[in-house]
Amino acid sequence: MKTENTVWHNQQISKEQRANLKQQKPALLWYTGLSGSGKSTVANAVDALLFKLGCHSYLLDGDNVRHGLNGDLGFSDEARVENIRRISEVAKLFLDAGLVVSTAFISPFASDRAQAKEKLEAGEFIEVYIDTPISVCESRDPKGLYKKARAGEIKDFTGIDSTYDVPENPQIHVKTDEKSVEECAEQIVGYLMAKGFINEASLQSA
Ligand code: ADX
Repeated sequence: MKTENTVWHNQQISKEQRANLKQQKPALLWYTGLSGSGKSTVANAVDALLFKLGCHSYLLDGDNVRHGLNGDLGFSDEARVENIRRISEVAKLFLDAGLVVSTAFISPFASDRAQAKEKLEAGEFIEVYIDTPISVCESRDPKGLYKKARAGEIKDFTGIDSTYDVPENPQIHVKTDEKSVEECAEQIVGYLMAKGFINEASLQSA
């Protein structure tokens, strides 16, 4: 709990100075989509492409973060809200370090995504909707979880017995069932370049 005895300290080196050193503008690519939609796969491809281009980036991935920082959280609505709250705070710290951050979580509730956006400076939050029909996610079923959810072995499974709020106005809309992973990654990196978050001229040649 935040107490009245904790005081915010301003740091000597600003976010802007850190970003300038890296010749980039901090941004948060907030991936959202169903389990099995391809969030992690596309986010990893984007992160690898950014790295290759010399961009300073970092990826926070749902399953991995749930092994550590959020290892105490399950999948009730309440737990998911806390999951996303913590992620958005961590992402904000990474943005303060001047990075281009990706977060790949189902993040099913529009209100939580809106709160994550509110924490950042205008324009920094980029919602990336990984739009894959549930039928396709279910046929991929990489972890066998849809099968278990249909059999009633897993409760509160997103898209089956737990809500997913479809993004109304995402900055980037990606259809993984119509494009290759590479094409999806290029679409996203292209957006970052077009909006000036990363500057082609300052990047190393790939
Ligand atoms: S979120 O809803 O809180 O954003 P998060 O992205 O962290 O979810 O974790 C989702 C991953 O956890 C899924 O890709 C899947 O591997 C696993 N998982 C386990 N149980 C569930 C469940 N009940 N609903 C959705 N995903 C689940």
